[in-house]
Amino acid sequence: MRASARRSAASLPEALRIAMAAHLQGMTDHATLPGGGLFAQAWAMLRPPAVDALYGLLGTRAFTARGLWLNLGYWRDARSIEEACPALALLVGQAAAIGPEDDVVDVGFGFADQDMLWARQFAPRRITGLNVTPLHVRLGRARVRRAGLADRIDLREGSATAMPLPDACCDVVTALECAFHFDTRAGFLAEAFRVLRPGGRIVLADIIPAAAAGGALRRRWQRASWRALARALAIPAANADARDGYAARFGAAGFAAPEIRSIGADVFPGFHHALREDAAFFARLPGSARLAYRPLLRFEAGDVYAGLDYVLASARKPQA
Ligand SMILES: C[S@@+](CC[C@H](N)C(=O)[O-])C[C@H]1O[C@@H](n2cnc3c(N)ncnc32)[C@H](O)[C@@H]1O
Repeated sequence: MRASARRSAASLPEALRIAMAAHLQGMTDHATLPGGGLFAQAWAMLRPPAVDALYGLLGTRAFTARGLWLNLGYWRDARSIEEACPALALLVGQAAAIGPEDDVVDVGFGFADQDMLWARQFAPRRITGLNVTPLHVRLGRARVRRAGLADRIDLREGSATAMPLPDACCDVVTALECAFHFDTRAGFLAEAFRVLRPGGRIVLADIIPAAAAGGALRRRWQRASWRALARALAIPAANADARDGYAARFGAAGFAAPEIRSIGADVFPGFHHALREDAAFFARLPGSARLAYRPLLRFEAGDVYAGLDYVLASARKPQA
């Protein structure tokens, strides 16, 4: 940990909690809340709302100027958040080997940018999207219609943990930066197993607690930063599995050969660097989020995100 971070270590968890909460709840500039504004933001920070209400509060403000992406991005070859967000979706699509024969179930689709990208790039037979946030479903449907893709992408309100879908109805299940929200992730894996046909694939881009590392202070900060994220993003306590426990959940749901690959080094530093260097990206955040993020930007990504790992997880439903 850098000297500057060490000096301020005690205040970092609080700073991160405020940053995450303000970042999310502050996104009410598009006024989806009646009278939303400072009072609603302050109340939401004190009592973080359920996940659908949380995203309702966010309104339509997104990380990108093109499209309405809401993920941290995959930065290996990306130079901006505009490139990094779709790059993460492409990584998931490629890991799932989505192809023309596939029926895809995509949970937590945001505003459907990823589904439109996959429809164009991989041409699956059909994508059925499920989301618990009514605004995302409404706007996603309108955008899909405008893009002329309504015959191939069907977006519905529904939860990843209680899918309104029959058994064995799809070949691929995807969850792009959302499974940490699900109540619970284990419940989602059981549902995914149910709706997949034998031989079907599941791929997640997901955030989990990092393996404990370093001295006592560093480990305390790791735990505190996960707790801060969990509180700000309404992450259920049951989803706090680190890598080994996380992999075991796939086996427990019946999946074979889970592969859990850390891609944190290609996610967190790029996102953090962009917030530091890309004035237009930073300016797209609402005022309260800009205020809250500023103190965190003095720290290196390795310190700010020390408690988190970002994984690309894939597994297969056995043939028989
Ligand atoms: C961080 S956003 C990611 C959006 C999108 N995948 C992207 O990359 O831009 C999380 C999404 O998961 C959705 N979500 C959260 N809990 C859910 C659940 N239980 N079932 C389905 N969708 C859920 C939210 O409404 C939101 O659209």
